[in-house]
Amino acid sequence: MRAPLVDGFGRVHTDLRLSLTDRCNLRCTYCMPAEGLDWLPTPELLTDDELVRLVGVFASMGVRTVRLTGGEPLLRRGLPGLVARLSELGLRSSLTTNGLGLARQAQALRDAGLNRVNVSLDTLRPERFLELTRRDRFADVVEGLRAAKLAGLDPVKVNTVLMRGVNDDEAADLLAWALEHGYALRFIEQMPLDPQHGWDRATMVPADEILEVLGRHVALTPVEHRGSAPAEEFLVDGGPATVGVVGSVTRPFCASCDRLRLTADGQVRNCLFARDESDLRAPLREGASDDELAERLRVAVAGKKAGHGIGEPGFVQPDRPMSAIGG
Ligand code: 5AD
Ligand code: SF4
Repeated sequence: MRAPLVDGFGRVHTDLRLSLTDRCNLRCTYCMPAEGLDWLPTPELLTDDELVRLVGVFASMGVRTVRLTGGEPLLRRGLPGLVARLSELGLRSSLTTNGLGLARQAQALRDAGLNRVNVSLDTLRPERFLELTRRDRFADVVEGLRAAKLAGLDPVKVNTVLMRGVNDDEAADLLAWALEHGYALRFIEQMPLDPQHGWDRATMVPADEILEVLGRHVALTPVEHRGSAPAEEFLVDGGPATVGVVGSVTRPFCASCDRLRLTADGQVRNCLFARDESDLRAPLREGASDDELAERLRVAVAGKKAGHGIGEPGFVQPDRPMSAIGG
């Protein structure tokens, strides 16, 4: 074991977001242009062996949980095999997915040791789903969610980004639907991470407003013990069901952040909104030892800023969109 990954503000890093691909089979309007992006060329992507080696170094420095993201991580070939290898490192794993293909893979992923899943879903209306994602795949997401539950993934979470004038009339419906099916719903404030750089505070639906709207339909009681979790959780009508709100913009949780990111091409990002990255792929491919990789990682974490600074003068959105960073 090596010393833990502590930054200049005393934050200890135990959670790794691992982006497995920048590709996606949806084209959500707030995430990607209709024609997609220039995908990373395959030789630039870390192989499974490279990934497992790097994650092993993270684990030796106190990382305990790994969240697999994308793009769409289910598009990564041989995903269950990779999950099994991450489980062997002693890490707890979760998957953030759009749900397409989950019906086919949920059981294999569970068998490989995957612990939990977060499925993104912004609407319950198939025609609106088509407008929002530019693909007519609503039914596949619903099927994927059902398969995740049947496979024993627990909890099955649903992530929703509400946008003003687009889907903000569905907050209560989404909650009722999630409760009915036993999914844990979380609303996420929209962050400035779109490739068009078109984010606007005025179209973001803030956490306060989401809670106010939900409060007209159900009784919400705050759950204590948030820890480093981004979501503020509330019991619904006394529980046990809960609903979460992730106020990334209006209620930032940077002060207790324990998260690190590794992009599919092997760059460490110490924050979603970091302006620079630390390359682990080049040293890895040039034969660096685990100790050398660990030292690079330590330096990358040490330079982490106090917070994302959205809304502060001088805030500049990162060059890479969310799909290339990993949610
Ligand atoms: N702000 C907030 N959430 C976003 N997601 C994608 N882009 C944004 C954004 N700009 C969400 C997706 C998915 C998760 C990976 O992040 O909807 O749930
Ligand atoms: Fe949509 Fe997620 Fe794909 Fe982006 S990465 S287009 S948010 S499904």
